[in-house]
Amino acid sequence: MNKQSRKTLIVGNWKEHENVSQASTLVARLHKLIAGHRDIEIVLAPNMLALQPVSLQIDRRRFRLASQNANAKDEGALTGEVSFAMLRGIVHYGIVGHSERRIYFNESLEDVRDKVAASIRNGIMPILCVGENSEDRSNGETRQVLHDQVISALSNLTAEEVTHVVIAYEPVWAISTFGGELAKPDDVQDCMKFIRNQVKELYGERAAEDIRILYGGSVDDHLAGGYLALDDCDGVLVGSASLNYHKFSGIVEAAYRNNRK
Ligand code: 13P
Repeated sequence: MNKQSRKTLIVGNWKEHENVSQASTLVARLHKLIAGHRDIEIVLAPNMLALQPVSLQIDRRRFRLASQNANAKDEGALTGEVSFAMLRGIVHYGIVGHSERRIYFNESLEDVRDKVAASIRNGIMPILCVGENSEDRSNGETRQVLHDQVISALSNLTAEEVTHVVIAYEPVWAISTFGGELAKPDDVQDCMKFIRNQVKELYGERAAEDIRILYGGSVDDHLAGGYLALDDCDGVLVGSASLNYHKFSGIVEAAYRNNRK
């Protein structure tokens, strides 16, 4: 596996934080603190309402955008929904199947599969979130859960399409708002390798080599380096620390240092 050929991805998931004017202030601060690096992609995921103004504000040479969710149907009588088709041209990436959506909004394996397919169909790279909860973990079912989530989500894609997917491994118990227990880097590496092997078994060597796998769960500027150094880790998906411009820029710096080791 050639980690160097996969571009490092640092994603800030702002969740339901930062209204339009707060988002604009945060972007202005990130512009001041974060330099562009050719080998690192920096992606911001503000709420749906802030995406459009932020897309006009950002320096596109340094920052890209992701949606936090979107509907799988391109259009329809679906009050309140926004589709991937509508996000074309605004976002490069779309977060799909985040554990908060699976848990609070009852997104099923099939919903996640359809959203991944809709994202790919619309030229938006899905950031597919997978991860076991604490009960799965204590029952020794982590691998089974990861297997089911990965396999079902990718099941409507070709091997070529799979290379455009990013998988974020986010154990639910490690997310700051779900307890925030720190995951040991060795355990994270085991799970990431397991995920890459699942992709290899189903879609072949090339897809497994190209697909990027991120880690998410209480990542901050101090912990980022330890995860980014893992063999199968191609970046991080950051929640609460992404709202703090010092911490988020520190995470980008950690990625820069790690790539130069
Ligand atoms: P925290 O970084 O706050 O743990 O959130 C992780 C997450 O859910 C990112 O999508």
